[in-house]
Amino acid sequence: MTGRRKSVHGEWSSRLAFILAATGSAVGLGNVWRFPYLTGESGGGAFVLIYLLCVAVIGVPVMMAEIMLGRRGRQSPVNTMRTLAQEEGRSPSWQYLGWMGMLAGFMILAYYSVVAGWTLAYVFRAGAGVFDSATADGVASIFSGFVSDPERLLAWHTIFMVMTTIVVSRGVKSGLEQAVTFLMPALFVLLVALVGYAMNTGEFNQALHYLFHPDFSKLTAKVVLDAMGQAFFSLSLGMGAIMIYGSYLSHTASIARTSIIVAGMDTLVALLAGLAIFPLVFAYHLQPQGGPGLIFKILPIAFGQMPYGAAFGAAFFVLLVFAAWTSSISLLEPIVTWLVENRGMNRVKASTLSGIGAWLLGIGALLSLNAWSNHKLLGKTFFGILEYLTADLMLPLGGLLIATFAVWRMSEESSRSELGLGSWSYALWRFLLRYITPIAIGLVFLNVTGLLTLFVH
Ligand code: TRP
Repeated sequence: MTGRRKSVHGEWSSRLAFILAATGSAVGLGNVWRFPYLTGESGGGAFVLIYLLCVAVIGVPVMMAEIMLGRRGRQSPVNTMRTLAQEEGRSPSWQYLGWMGMLAGFMILAYYSVVAGWTLAYVFRAGAGVFDSATADGVASIFSGFVSDPERLLAWHTIFMVMTTIVVSRGVKSGLEQAVTFLMPALFVLLVALVGYAMNTGEFNQALHYLFHPDFSKLTAKVVLDAMGQAFFSLSLGMGAIMIYGSYLSHTASIARTSIIVAGMDTLVALLAGLAIFPLVFAYHLQPQGGPGLIFKILPIAFGQMPYGAAFGAAFFVLLVFAAWTSSISLLEPIVTWLVENRGMNRVKASTLSGIGAWLLGIGALLSLNAWSNHKLLGKTFFGILEYLTADLMLPLGGLLIATFAVWRMSEESSRSELGLGSWSYALWRFLLRYITPIAIGLVFLNVTGLLTLFVH
């Protein structure tokens, strides 16, 4: 037993502060940009169902494990894993879990910042009334004109990366609480208003059917993998972001309740985004398979038609930028904390260096939308490869390793005392992580790599 380690980086002021920070990390472009676009590409209901199942059965228990490891280790993910492995008498190689997480965060931040840059640009486009009474075709061609211009994309990507780096260099706690306390609820309210608008003007019933009536003929290995990857991506799991936020959590807070609240709010926001967008997709007879540009091609049509749409649209994109901002800082935080702990850098230098690295990788991502769009590997652009490697492979693998460590490598005594659950809920948590998580993730991976067919034949 370790006794209780104090956090070297300070503690959240309260459990609420942690919930706000973790929700800030979870709710972001993943909910409003990625969830609708993947749903559209995957054909709707079957994807949504698998996603919801993954959130409940894998996401929540893995989130509990990740917070638990973070709170017990109290350092950057690499050092947390090294310390805990040592305490439990396990191999020091567990620290590579932290390394993979830092790499995943870095790679995600690269393309995340590019899309956050689109959002920033759209604040001004919407505010200037560019979309007023625009047709669906007009809005789509504004988007394609925009992404085919690398210099503009670069300018916005740079601005967003600087914003992220500045917050991380000052320490993630300052400002985060206020941002999440006021701006998240505001985003929520605007999303609800958009759903109301979509109910009145769009094909709401068709969208409900599309989202919640699974058509299992659409269920391919890729759809299942995407749904699982999206559950990890949206909940910020599997790369140490939640682990590091957990490292600031006080010992009195209930990890289980906290995880359920964060996952619940995150899922609600994603579903609202879906309910706001798909009624409009069907009303304008557009293709749900709009790709990564889907929301940028759909929502502006609504902003162009509703009263005060320019102001509403600008406000919506501002709030989405804030949501992306409170997420992107959690992607950079594990690397920065590690550089501070192990390389003796100050936060400013550590944030600047890692921000520049992610910015450079992001340039590759944004060029793959225009100048390099014909360079493909396995049918994917560089942007697509980054997304696939991180969300579909590295995050679920990270989650699997976190689960494995928490329930197979850590003593029952340690996890029991850290979680403080009743005996039934503890048993359920342990059962899910011991058997269900590895089997589910393992099957999805095997199926996708085609290995399963080897066994069947
Ligand atoms: N969850 C965030 C979103 O939905 C993105 C994000 C932040 C993330 N931190 C992460 C994704 C860590 C994976 C891992 O926008």
